[in-house]
Amino acid sequence: MRRHDMAKRIITVTSLKGGAGKTTSALHLAAYYQQTSSTLLVDADPNRSLREWVARGVGLPFQVIGEASLAKEAGKFETIIIDTKGRPERDDLDDMIAGSDMIVVPCPPDAQAVATLRMLFAQFRQLGATNYRVLLVNVPPLPQRDGEEYRALLTDLDIPLFRRSIRSAKAFRKASMQGCTVDRVSDDRRSYLAWYDYEEVGREIDEILIAQSTSRLQRAS
Ligand SMILES: Nc1ncnc2c1ncn2[C@@H]1O[C@H](COP(=O)(O)OP(=O)(O)O)[C@@H](O)[C@H]1O
Ligand SMILES: [Mg+2]
Repeated sequence: MRRHDMAKRIITVTSLKGGAGKTTSALHLAAYYQQTSSTLLVDADPNRSLREWVARGVGLPFQVIGEASLAKEAGKFETIIIDTKGRPERDDLDDMIAGSDMIVVPCPPDAQAVATLRMLFAQFRQLGATNYRVLLVNVPPLPQRDGEEYRALLTDLDIPLFRRSIRSAKAFRKASMQGCTVDRVSDDRRSYLAWYDYEEVGREIDEILIAQSTSRLQRAS
């Protein structure tokens, strides 16, 4: 995948495991960016789960395309969000790093995932990636401490995380069934709280990308 110069930002969502929350995260980050920029959502997973999600509904405000159409469409959009298949190979990671401004790695607080996360982040470092973060998702509510404990564990391992986590909410599954974003599910009054989580992560990504382009400008002058 080549770097698409017209786009202001390319954000890739990946993980070593399936069922981690990639598709859910890609869709909601696209909804966040669509508020302020023309946004293209790319379904690079051959199982097409993102295209199916969008097809179930009516009103999602962004276009979803397969990877094959990306080269043709990319130049028309300011923001590109890419949802990937699980288990990327090393070559996939190489392409991903060359072709993205930010890599988001969703992960539920599952102790068994730590070893694979360490592997993935070691590879990111080796390959010279700069912007990559774990996004804790499906975090059970307090007083359960799973989220906090997991955050402490990853911090000890020098694995960078977004400050905001995504709470566990049944509304995400409903959103997928109804073909909408989580804030729009029809029978869940608190689902907008889950949307705020993604909105806050979108703001963090903005912060990181702005800080990066500022330091680039400073180095150039
Ligand atoms: N924050 C969350 N709370 C509850 N369920 C979630 C959350 N995020 C994702 N899920 C559910 O977990 C399952 C896997 O999510 P998905 O985004 O399809 O993962 P992936 O694309 O990595 O396979 C789906 O059933 C989805 O509805
Ligand atoms: Mg998926």
